[in-house]
Amino acid sequence: MQHTEVIGIASGKGGAGKTTVAVNLALALQESGYRVMLFDADLGLANAPILLGCHCPFNLSHFLRGEKTLAEIAITTPQGLRLIPGASGNQQLAALTAVDALKIVQAFSDLDETIDYLIVDMAAGISPAVLSFMAASHRRLIVTRNDPSSIADAYGTIKVLTEDYGLDEIYLVPNAMKSQLDGQLLFHKINRVCAQFLPRTVHYVGTIEHDPRVEEAHKHLEPLMTYARTSRAAKDFGLLAHAVTELTPLQEMSGNVQFFNDRQMRPVRATLLH
Ligand SMILES: Nc1ncnc2c1ncn2[C@@H]1O[C@H](COP(=O)(O)OP(=O)(O)O)[C@@H](O)[C@H]1O
Ligand SMILES: [Mg+2]
Repeated sequence: MQHTEVIGIASGKGGAGKTTVAVNLALALQESGYRVMLFDADLGLANAPILLGCHCPFNLSHFLRGEKTLAEIAITTPQGLRLIPGASGNQQLAALTAVDALKIVQAFSDLDETIDYLIVDMAAGISPAVLSFMAASHRRLIVTRNDPSSIADAYGTIKVLTEDYGLDEIYLVPNAMKSQLDGQLLFHKINRVCAQFLPRTVHYVGTIEHDPRVEEAHKHLEPLMTYARTSRAAKDFGLLAHAVTELTPLQEMSGNVQFFNDRQMRPVRATLLH
């Protein structure tokens, strides 16, 4: 029996760094020897394939039109990640419904591949589809910057996930921070408000510092982890990946429909890929 841990990455606000975190966390996990798949669920402005320098002949729009299976649209990126491409700039797909989202979630169970981690890069906001994907994930990372609107949107996302969906396993990832300490302080600040007003508190799993190399890599259409492996933020992604692999094994799942209902346990370290 294969075990796949599914990590959904959201932020509320666009531009917080979801795609940056999703892509580089996926690469850092792969570097540690895990088999990783990235699902680009940002269907309006999908940019994970661009960051990974991929040409994707088919994407989720082909799956949703019933023309291709998920296995048929999946590709292997030049970095060796498995990728399910979204559908960039497709207005109709940008308005994905919760029913579409569930159809996609269920189709993952038909994939016949060994995957230790599935990372899901969400669209901005808290549309029904984003919330369905978040509820279907085993753990949830909320990426936030240290500015009032990003913090408000992160809190708003946590509020809906905890109050309306009864979800746990929510982790904050402060991004583009001045220092690790600033990231920890931001986590405590947000979590104090959660403790006061929400049914659940959230957890801390790591901070990504602000690093001009991230933007530079972006401009070169390359992920930071391969473009500047020794940069500050790349080190932070290494630490984030390590922290993710050290999280307490998942015990029981929420009652929601989830990705890989049949593969729910902690991944064991895979045979090294390199
Ligand atoms: N840690 C960071 N340091 C510097 N720039 C960053 C950092 N994280 C993200 N960025 C930049 O912020 C912009 C938005 O990031 P992106 O990952 O596309 O956000 P989202 O997917 O949440 O919309 C990009 O131009 C990216 O290069
Ligand atoms: Mg994005």
